[in-house]
Order: sequence, then structure tokens, then C-alpha cells
Amino acid sequence: MQILVLGAAAGGGFPQWNCNCRMCRGVRDGSIKATPRTQSSIAISSDGEHWLLCNASPDIRAQLAANPELHPKRIPRDSGISGVVLMDAQIDHATGLLSLREGCPFEVWCTPNVHQDLSTGFPLFRMLEHWQGGLAWQRIGIDDGHWEAEFKVPACPGLTFTAVALTSNAPPYSPRRGAPTPGDNIGLMVEDTTRGTRLFYAPGLGELDERTRGYLQHADCIMVDGTLWQDDELIQAGVGRATGRDMGHLALSGEHGLLGELDALPETTRRVLIHINNTNPILDERSEQRAALTAQGIEVAFDGMRLEV
Ligand code: MLT
Ligand code: MN
Ligand code: ZN
Repeated sequence: MQILVLGAAAGGGFPQWNCNCRMCRGVRDGSIKATPRTQSSIAISSDGEHWLLCNASPDIRAQLAANPELHPKRIPRDSGISGVVLMDAQIDHATGLLSLREGCPFEVWCTPNVHQDLSTGFPLFRMLEHWQGGLAWQRIGIDDGHWEAEFKVPACPGLTFTAVALTSNAPPYSPRRGAPTPGDNIGLMVEDTTRGTRLFYAPGLGELDERTRGYLQHADCIMVDGTLWQDDELIQAGVGRATGRDMGHLALSGEHGLLGELDALPETTRRVLIHINNTNPILDERSEQRAALTAQGIEVAFDGMRLEV
């Protein structure tokens, strides 16, 4: 399978429009070595022609323009995007659907929880009904005690998808904010059935349990939550009061941080961090934190990164 990284930053992007933290200021004035990044999204394809968009970022217009694979090529109104799958109902992962309105009806795979939030607190499904019938919800069956669900995307016949319920958080406009249930956040195991290879994608990972560890262990490539270096990073940077734990993002460093978990993976696993918050020092290519990742064989995703799994 082929993977395009359309956006590698967390909500807000890098730099964030109103942020004067050391990193955002540094990338603006050139005092750190870093590249701007748009908000979190990837696209996956088995044939290089039909792409499944994983999350629809507020920056989607620029992301589509920057990736020729996704341009219209065959008929007068066209796109390389054959469908969308959402990992959660957060603004940074769903807002781009509004910008795809000219392409409705559009197939969108998501869980009942995400569909509910995007029909009530952030009613994208309801709004877009006014554009050629809107979004065609493709239900991912995580509810009623289900922890995972398999699904196929007709436009990507060579791939099978398993949605895995993850512990992270529901958005602020969800009735389940602070008390998420299975289906508020998923990770995606994507298997290329011809090659027998697997990608595990999880941009929002708040906690690891044995089930999630099992998926990480069985992937050839993982693209996982690189939001924060440390749990109290927003507080330390003076830009917020929430910890990573509050937001549903497990920090990279620290005794029980994500980096320790990644150390336990098979040596051959390709490890890529994505959904990186603008306060995270790993965005500075000359930082000690970035050097530590490099020494551990961990890559930091960037807009325009292409992977083959
Ligand atoms: C998150 O990942 O926690 C959210 O996307 C944050 C946000 O965009 O407000
Ligand atoms: Mn996010
Ligand atoms: Zn910042």
C-alpha cells in the first residue's frame, strides 16, 4: 500500500495562528530549524489511483492542491479521493468534510459515536444533506461492547481495514467528553492483502492496553500519536491548562510514555510519529529530543512524506 502524509501536525497546525510559544515563534522567525506542518490527515491506496482519506483536516484544500495523486484526472468533476474514514469527531479531523461538499454524496466511514457527535454537537452530517444528499454514512460497528470491527472500502479492494477502539477522549462538544466510550476514538489496522503487509494508524492514543499493544506488535509500520513530548507541555509553554492526559494523548517521554512502548516493538517495525503539537520540541530538527528519537529509530512525519508498506 501507498501512504501520503497530507498533514502531520495536531489541531492548530504548526505554527498555530495565535501561538507565540518558542516553537511557533521559532519557525516563523527562523531561529529554529523546522518545517511548517498542516493539520493531521493521511491518504492510503493500494493502486495509486483510488485513495481513502483518513481524517478530513481543516487544511484539506491546500493538502489536495499539494498532492497530484489526489487531483481530478478522468472526468470533468473528479478526485483521487474515493472515500473518507474518521478516527474521531474532533475539529482537526472532520472539518475538511465541509470543503468536500462539491463532491457529495460522499462515503464516510465512522463509528456510531462519531456519527452522533457529527450530527449534533458539530452537525456536519445534517448540514451537508443540503449538498446532493450529503454524506453517505458507512457504519463502523464499534458499539455495544465491541472493541474492533472489520470493514472493506469498495474503491480499495486490495485493502482490509480493522477499526480498533482506543482510549483517548471525545471532543468538547460531545456528551461523552471526559468519559469516552468505545467508538469515540479508533486506530486503524490496514492490511494489504496482496503483499501481506500491515499499517497501524493511531493519531490519538491516550492509553495503551494489551489489545492495542497486540496491534502495534503485528504491524510492519506504525504511525502513532506524537502530540506531546511531555504531559504538562502546554502548561510549561504557558499556552494552556490541559495536560496530555486530559486531552487523551499519551506523552512521548516519561516513565510510562509512548517511547518506552515503542522500544518493545520488533526491530523491523517502521515507527513514525504523527499528529504533532506545535509545542513539541521534536519539531526542532536540532533539538536533543529529536536526536533521541533518531537514535531510537523513530521518524517524525512531515507534510508530503510518502511511505510504502
Ligand atoms: C485533540 O487532538 O485533542 C484535538 O484535536 C485538539 C483540538 O484540535 O482542539
Ligand atoms: Mn487532534
Ligand atoms: Zn505554539
